[in-house]
Amino acid sequence: MSDERVTFGSKLGVIFASVGSAVGLGNIWRFPYETGQNGGAAFLLLYVLCVVLVGLPVMMSEFFIGRHSRKNAAGAFDVLAPKTKWNFIGYNGVAAAFLILGFYSVVAGWTLEYFFQALTGSLTGKTAADYAADFSSFNSGIFWPIFWTTTFIALTHIIISVGVQKGIERSSKIMMPMLFLFMIILCVRSVTLPDAEIGLSFLFKPDFSKINSSTVLSAMGQAFFSLSVGMGCLITYSSYFGKDTNLQKTAITVTVLDTLVAVLAGVIIFPAVFSFGIAPTAGPELVFITLPNVFQNLPMSALWSSIFYLLLAIAALTSTISLHEVATAYVHEEHGFTRKRAAFIVSFGVLVLGVISSLSFGLLKEYTVFGLNFFDLLDYATAKIMLPFGGLLVSVFVGWRIDRKILKAELTNQGTASFYFFTIYAFLLKYIAPIAIGLIFINELGLFKLLK
Ligand code: PHE
Repeated sequence: MSDERVTFGSKLGVIFASVGSAVGLGNIWRFPYETGQNGGAAFLLLYVLCVVLVGLPVMMSEFFIGRHSRKNAAGAFDVLAPKTKWNFIGYNGVAAAFLILGFYSVVAGWTLEYFFQALTGSLTGKTAADYAADFSSFNSGIFWPIFWTTTFIALTHIIISVGVQKGIERSSKIMMPMLFLFMIILCVRSVTLPDAEIGLSFLFKPDFSKINSSTVLSAMGQAFFSLSVGMGCLITYSSYFGKDTNLQKTAITVTVLDTLVAVLAGVIIFPAVFSFGIAPTAGPELVFITLPNVFQNLPMSALWSSIFYLLLAIAALTSTISLHEVATAYVHEEHGFTRKRAAFIVSFGVLVLGVISSLSFGLLKEYTVFGLNFFDLLDYATAKIMLPFGGLLVSVFVGWRIDRKILKAELTNQGTASFYFFTIYAFLLKYIAPIAIGLIFINELGLFKLLK
């Protein structure tokens, strides 16, 4: 069975696949809008703290779990802790992967729409208000958003079931650096717009009065979401890693690149937001109504913008592949379906969720739970509850239950690779991560107030 699984050819392949999973809409779409809604720089600071103190240790632990067990997210725990309930972490992760795909594919679909609009030149020559109006008339519609969501799910499905990962791996080695380069160009354009400094100080000058319990939960959720941790994605990927992959270096590289892309996205978006008079709190549509304004101010804007949206779609695709793989590997290996059929089951379920999420911007707008439409509900439940909860359990599992010697041996490739910060890592994992996640949960759920 294992020969059917993805294998990562080169060391670079390992890093690119993991970076491919981490870097995606989470950085370029979700990070700016969460930052905008949560007050800017103070949120960024909390986010970076969560990434370093909680996200990174959890990522290394997921790498440990995956490569040590060489199993899917749920099966891994049957190897490491047989006949216990720890495999709940895996089930939580598989469910999260499925639910994330349910709203992520909708946004990924939007990038395709914008790619075609850019290509046909219909994305230029408008005012900031026009872009906002056009976006909401597009995403509250029925046919086109669903068409693009379906197209995106189909693309992911084909790659997962036909197994052209090698092609993806190879192409992302070119596309990712290209995306990076493009973002740098956009940064330069954005910070030289009139009033850019207002946006930069929004992003970098913290106003601590903006911090409350929901900001903190949002920052932690964003850290988990963006790093692809807390749901078994990196467990699944690292189960395909080679024996000589340096887990510590890989985790640090993924974390640094992922954070860099998010910050770059912020540097592109916020100067433009203030320069064009867009509300930073606009929510999920923020990037889609801001970027066209930036492109419009570049020479040959149709060319730049179409390449950019294509690159963004590909960044999203390398993330949806990783999400789909978690669910497919699980259905295939734990339930005895062929890989093709497993992929089909997952895609079909995701399609149903995707259609409902897409419609929740228009036709189904009135149907809300706790004031959230279906799309926002999936986003909230996964990023702010399931992933941090998964991360909490991973840190307790690896920090408290796994023999320190086994952990160290795996993370240092049986002593052949160095691990500079092992003691710090172990401390963060055992105490800081679980306590921080636990406190944030308790605080946000209002339990402190209840006790008073
Ligand atoms: N990290 C991805 C992004 O930032 C999304 C993702 C979340 C992928 C969880 C896999 C697992 O776009």
